[in-house]
Amino acid sequence: MTREILKVKDLATHYTGFGGSRVVKAVDEVSFSLEEGQTIGIVGESGCGKTTLCLSLVRLLAPGAQIVGGSIELNGRDILKLSQKEMVEVRGKEIAMILQDPMTSLNPVINIETQVGEAAFKHRGLRSSTLRERVRQLLEAVRIPSPDVRMQEFPHQMSGGMRQRIAGAVALSGEPGIIIADEPTTSLDVTIQAQYLDLLRRLQKDTGVGLIFVTHDLGIVAKMCDDVIVMYAGKTVEKGSVREIFNNPNHPYTSALIRSVPKLGSKDPLYRIEGQPPDLSNLPQGCSFASRCAIADDHCFEHEPPLIEVGPRRLAACWKIEENAASKEQA
Ligand SMILES: Nc1ncnc2c1ncn2[C@@H]1O[C@H](COP(=O)(O)OP(=O)(O)OP(=O)(O)O)[C@@H](O)[C@H]1O
Ligand code: SF4
Ligand SMILES: [Mg+2]
Repeated sequence: MTREILKVKDLATHYTGFGGSRVVKAVDEVSFSLEEGQTIGIVGESGCGKTTLCLSLVRLLAPGAQIVGGSIELNGRDILKLSQKEMVEVRGKEIAMILQDPMTSLNPVINIETQVGEAAFKHRGLRSSTLRERVRQLLEAVRIPSPDVRMQEFPHQMSGGMRQRIAGAVALSGEPGIIIADEPTTSLDVTIQAQYLDLLRRLQKDTGVGLIFVTHDLGIVAKMCDDVIVMYAGKTVEKGSVREIFNNPNHPYTSALIRSVPKLGSKDPLYRIEGQPPDLSNLPQGCSFASRCAIADDHCFEHEPPLIEVGPRRLAACWKIEENAASKEQA
């Protein structure tokens, strides 16, 4: 049996502003677990809480954000009970995150060698020539050309795609058991993107690292992930294995996301989900997707659907799962 390395239960993270009068419920009772060697994808529209969820897992939230409920068990201990000082020992060694915007994670005044080598130095005890060799290997692994030259340079001397890959090398440096990658390939061209994804997969095969992958690209989810969590307005609306969810989505929002993927060679107009997600500081009563859902009725607008088990290891939050299945068959 594979070992469970992360267990998140009913996690809730809010941003509070304007003296506490406005509360943004960015993550609302999210639960999932990750096993050794497993890859979980997190998908959902912009602003649905993906980054906030990931930042909560490494406890690197912005000022004004607070974890207000739930637990995060990493290798069997609740990291919400650790001090920030203790978290410094955990980050990079047990869990590392590749931030969505690498410029915010890379320090502009420290050279690449020192930044990439930091976790290997701190958590794996590498020194002098062994450390330098490790940095070189990591830069080669993420396809940075002329690594010996580049390691003496600074982030502003790199292209956006290079910075993104260097942020990947920084995360790999301490050989963590879990890597969270928040949109790690957005500024990479397709060839480099494919190489980068292959690197992560190879690494996973060799080391059993658990991956959490945040992406807008359902093609990447299909290629990389075992399970997927679909988020909408801070909540999980559907969860299950990638194969089952792609073949038979239960939630109308998941169906709409899948329909929005452009089909190669198709001249049909692109499908887009009409309307906007709700304001997370002023959520409507009932189902948060109701104003955009083609099969919503009065009950949906009044009552929030609970996240329930709809099959083995499958969850969905919708009052009309059967009706959605029927409308898919007719489409
Ligand atoms: N520092 C912050 N202060 C206040 N509110 C924030 C802050 N960061 C994010 N939010 C709000 O929290 C919600 C979730 O944002 P988050 O960045 O987690 O979404 P996301 O799913 O990662 O979006 P994207 O796909 O655009 O990266 C949004 O409503 C956003 O406006
Ligand atoms: S609960 Fe109702 S409004 Fe919400 S997704 Fe299901 S059918 Fe649509
Ligand atoms: Mg984000």
